[in-house]
Amino acid sequence: MPTPPRVKMPSATSIVARSHPDHIIGVDNTLPWHLRTDLQHFKKLTAGHAVIMGRRTFESLGRPLPNRLNIVLSRQIFDDCANVKWAKDPETALLLADVHSIFTLQPEFFIIGGEVIFGEFQKYINQFWLTDVYTGHMNGDAKFDYTFLPSEWRTREEREFPSGEHDDFSFRITHYARRKFEHRMRSKEEFMPTSSHIIDRLEEWSEFIESQPADDDALADHPTLF
Ligand SMILES: NC(=O)c1ccc[n+]([C@@H]2O[C@H](COP(=O)([O-])OP(=O)(O)OC[C@H]3O[C@@H](n4cnc5c(N)ncnc54)[C@H](OP(=O)(O)O)[C@@H]3O)[C@@H](O)[C@H]2O)c1
Repeated sequence: MPTPPRVKMPSATSIVARSHPDHIIGVDNTLPWHLRTDLQHFKKLTAGHAVIMGRRTFESLGRPLPNRLNIVLSRQIFDDCANVKWAKDPETALLLADVHSIFTLQPEFFIIGGEVIFGEFQKYINQFWLTDVYTGHMNGDAKFDYTFLPSEWRTREEREFPSGEHDDFSFRITHYARRKFEHRMRSKEEFMPTSSHIIDRLEEWSEFIESQPADDDALADHPTLF
């Protein structure tokens, strides 16, 4: 089957944990809680995928996330290494995420923060896994203040979790999906500067992505804790 002139690209999904009720996501470039169950959920969802993050979030992690392609945005110049690629702007980050997803035949990649990056990529994100952490009022220097309007977002799943030995606070995970997905499209020519291998792979990708279930049906396949 010939590759169509413009091909549907992988979809962006985001994962964020914020305090309730103040929507704080970070204090002094760290996470203000430890929730092992939520981290396990994060790991399960993102394993093997490309993850896009800002330079400050990358520093806060202390090391690249294993078993994922770490795409890190910065206006500074840094050297790439095994599973870390630096992107000088959002377009470069999206191209790298697209190439990784196409090579690994995965229909989505992840935007994992922090505040600046969530703001810049918001328009591309079709699904959110939102963790509301019941901390009570708190101060912090990074926020995720977005409101999920029911007219724009459908709630797919929601579950409450208690605090416990390994989870500092009780919390709720909600899976939101856009009522109307934003599909980014690309032509073969846009991949020319990357490598000829990706051009070869595009035809297989095109068949794969066209064979995927429609947006809403595809959501049912998501790995979840539930
Ligand atoms: N709770 C959660 O779910 C969660 C998730 C992730 C992060 N966090 C927290 O969020 C905080 C960090 O968030 P943040 O907003 O301060 O920083 P950030 O979004 O992680 O990173 C910002 C940096 O990304 C780079 N950048 C941003 N836009 C760019 C663009 N258009 N082109 C090129 N580079 C760009 C810049 O790096 P340079 O300065 O190098 O140019 C900028 O300083 C931390 O406290 C972290 O722990 C929380």
